[in-house]
Amino acid sequence: MSEDEIILTHILQCRAIDLAVDGLALTPSQEEQFRRYKCRRLAGEPLQYILGCCDFMGLELGVNPTVLVPRPETEQLVDTALKYFKGGAALDLGTGSGNIAVALAKFVEHCEVIAMDKSAQALDTARANAKRHGVMQRMTFIHGDMSNEKFILNLLKDAKFDLVISNPPYIPTEQLSTLPQDVRKEPPAALDGGRDGLKFIRIIIKYTPCLLRKGACLMMEFGDGQAEAVKQLAQDTRLFSTIEIFKDLAGRDRVMRAVL
Ligand SMILES: C[S@@+](CC[C@H](N)C(=O)[O-])C[C@H]1O[C@@H](n2cnc3c(N)ncnc32)[C@H](O)[C@@H]1O
Repeated sequence: MSEDEIILTHILQCRAIDLAVDGLALTPSQEEQFRRYKCRRLAGEPLQYILGCCDFMGLELGVNPTVLVPRPETEQLVDTALKYFKGGAALDLGTGSGNIAVALAKFVEHCEVIAMDKSAQALDTARANAKRHGVMQRMTFIHGDMSNEKFILNLLKDAKFDLVISNPPYIPTEQLSTLPQDVRKEPPAALDGGRDGLKFIRIIIKYTPCLLRKGACLMMEFGDGQAEAVKQLAQDTRLFSTIEIFKDLAGRDRVMRAVL
């Protein structure tokens, strides 16, 4: 579907096929709405913020400028995680819209998911998405900073997870200003991975072995060109028995699975 068609199906609350079969019958107020949406799009606003929703693994999720727009690469991360995670406890670090956490809770029947984020507004969005998909009672939301050692150590006290999963911010700081206009409308804290892009990846790899039960795994998305560094960081812990890298649909290394 073209962007115009997506906007039209949203305004008319119809399916793409209805556009072709019935032709367009916009009321004057719908025409005005279409024009306003197009103007916002031309100003570089992501389409998903304009519509207030997006599709993630077949689930409609609410999104807004306080959260990253879920990406197809992250569907790949969850798809891969679903092959290994069949139940138990999962922890999603940097949950944003809750896309990963809600999808796990939705597709894995016997599981509990903790979703954490530093952004209180993102957690509100994640909670709303959990409600929307009826998985609220199997989810816990934690407001915290994963770069704060005290926070992590507190979480460690009694937690043993079957899966730790994350799509952390992984773009090197100096690349942020070179990103396309619509990406720059997304929250900088959701993108900024520090000087080399690996700031949060280092933290997650350092602490995750203490959070996992034996045989459980860390699954993490990372950026283009970061695979070797990410793999090395995991190897350096000498705690993971297996480290695997998976490619995205474009054939680029994108996801690591590290088994304790
Ligand atoms: C790349 S976004 C991923 C969001 C979502 N999981 C997804 O896949 O679309 C990273 C998330 O990490 C959160 N974040 C950034 N710094 C953080 C920190 N220090 N502690 C916890 N979460 C943080 C951001 O607010 C953002 O929601």
